[in-house]
Amino acid sequence: MASHSSIAEASNQPLSIAVFGASGDLALKKIYPALFALFCQQLLPAHFKIIGYARTELSHDAFRDRIMRHLTCRYVPGEKCEERMQAFLAACEYVSGGYDSIEGYRKLDAAMKCFGPDQAENRLFYMSIPPFLFLDVANTMHTAGLESRPPNAWSRVVLEKPFGSDRASSDFLTENMAKVFTEDQTYRIDHYLGKEVIQNLMVLRFANLIFDPIWNRSCIHHVCISWGEDIGVEGRAGYFDQYGILRDVMQNHLLQIMALAAMEEPIRLDAKYIRDEKVKVLRGVPALTLNDVVIGQYTAGEHNGAHHKGYLEEEGIPPHSITPTYGAAVLKIHNRRWDGVPFLIRAGKGLRDRRTEIRIRFREVPANLFTPNSADIAPNELVIRVQPDAEISFQITTKVPGLNIALAKNDLNLQYASAFQTIIPDAYECLLLDVLEGDRSLFIRADELEAAWDIFTPVLHDLESCTIQPQGYPFGSTGPQAAQALAALHGVEW
Ligand SMILES: NC(=O)c1ccc[n+]([C@@H]2O[C@H](COP(=O)([O-])OP(=O)(O)OC[C@H]3O[C@@H](n4cnc5c(N)ncnc54)[C@H](OP(=O)(O)O)[C@@H]3O)[C@@H](O)[C@H]2O)c1
Repeated sequence: MASHSSIAEASNQPLSIAVFGASGDLALKKIYPALFALFCQQLLPAHFKIIGYARTELSHDAFRDRIMRHLTCRYVPGEKCEERMQAFLAACEYVSGGYDSIEGYRKLDAAMKCFGPDQAENRLFYMSIPPFLFLDVANTMHTAGLESRPPNAWSRVVLEKPFGSDRASSDFLTENMAKVFTEDQTYRIDHYLGKEVIQNLMVLRFANLIFDPIWNRSCIHHVCISWGEDIGVEGRAGYFDQYGILRDVMQNHLLQIMALAAMEEPIRLDAKYIRDEKVKVLRGVPALTLNDVVIGQYTAGEHNGAHHKGYLEEEGIPPHSITPTYGAAVLKIHNRRWDGVPFLIRAGKGLRDRRTEIRIRFREVPANLFTPNSADIAPNELVIRVQPDAEISFQITTKVPGLNIALAKNDLNLQYASAFQTIIPDAYECLLLDVLEGDRSLFIRADELEAAWDIFTPVLHDLESCTIQPQGYPFGSTGPQAAQALAALHGVEW
């Protein structure tokens, strides 16, 4: 979202980044590589330091070795890459300490402020830690005075989801974090919003006149937003079993995508106005009830020639867990544009394919001139695919070349890999750059979070208090049959 001019202007101001949980997967696989990518594109200030902080005891060099394993030469191929890596690693340090250790934070503070007495550095704190630690870290940071800056410097905090586990716990987190960081300093990350195709949603909708008159209940029959993985919990059993797929994927990633697909045009391309529109549309969605939702849990199955355990057999999962690994829900938006249009969202682990996409299905052509030739032809569909391959396709009906009139469905297809001869940045590159530039458009504002939890909290509580058993589905399948039945109730074939 950001234009890159402000970084150039700010480049005289030094920057210190503290990564809490630096020994973890997310830091090593996503955050450091993204920062390196920005460094290679000269999008970091001239003077910067990145200090990893975690409990694991590591020397600076041992930590740099860990970072280096995940850096890539995408932006600086060839011999120069090694040189850039060494320059980047020289700016990376490591401090070991507890998350509530004042002594540890003082060491961190000393490491962050080494640009000379006259140079107040900007400070970015990245919480790449389990969420139950957020408040401890923020409070200890506050006691040690880490986040306080002189008027000519900023400090900002990035939080990784999940932000609470229901409306009440999310409010508690928001209220208490606000005692240390204002809302303007807080960047709640949903990395799906940094993905190229998702960022393209607004461009597609608002920079192409053709979509404007048809983007409504008159022309759109339904919208499906799907997220699927063909893997299980993969070493994240403890985390996943506590949250489940509705909290891990649906309440955040899928609702955010839905909001971008359904919102009104913001009056300006500005964080405030974009987020106002997203909140408005989320506020128009009634809370889900048990009738609107299906949950599933994968059982043992065969996939790509291999046998996979069921969820309950995975290491670290309690034997009677009812945590859903699959969820499907039908949402309605009560406004003039969308009244009566079902938005179906579904997410699952252990499915046949890894796929995230939005399918916007248009209505049938009324009194179709080509009936009965068109009997088997499905209506138009716009498919916006996020993964595995970024792609936008529009399904149209065409005449099959020949002497008689036969109709067929065909694709107008934009595949990112072949259409754009450019490096597609990782979502974290884009989002980290936005944080540095102070652009909050792609981050979740507190009221957006409230609205999203209001949609899911009642049904999550009902599912849990009634101990509703998820329907089993074999690993490698398309999910539980009840999801097909739910979709069929709304005239949708999944
Ligand atoms: N990985 C992803 O793709 C992903 C995606 C979305 C959101 N997230 C969120 O981002 C956070 C970081 O992800 P991650 O995969 O790097 O997580 P992680 O490896 O579980 O945790 C990161 C670091 O936090 C510390 N830590 C972990 N559990 C702790 C505990 N019980 N008590 C105290 N410290 C603990 C560990 O460092 P030390 O032991 O060295 O202190 C660990 O290296 C996650 O908590 C999750 O909420 C991750």
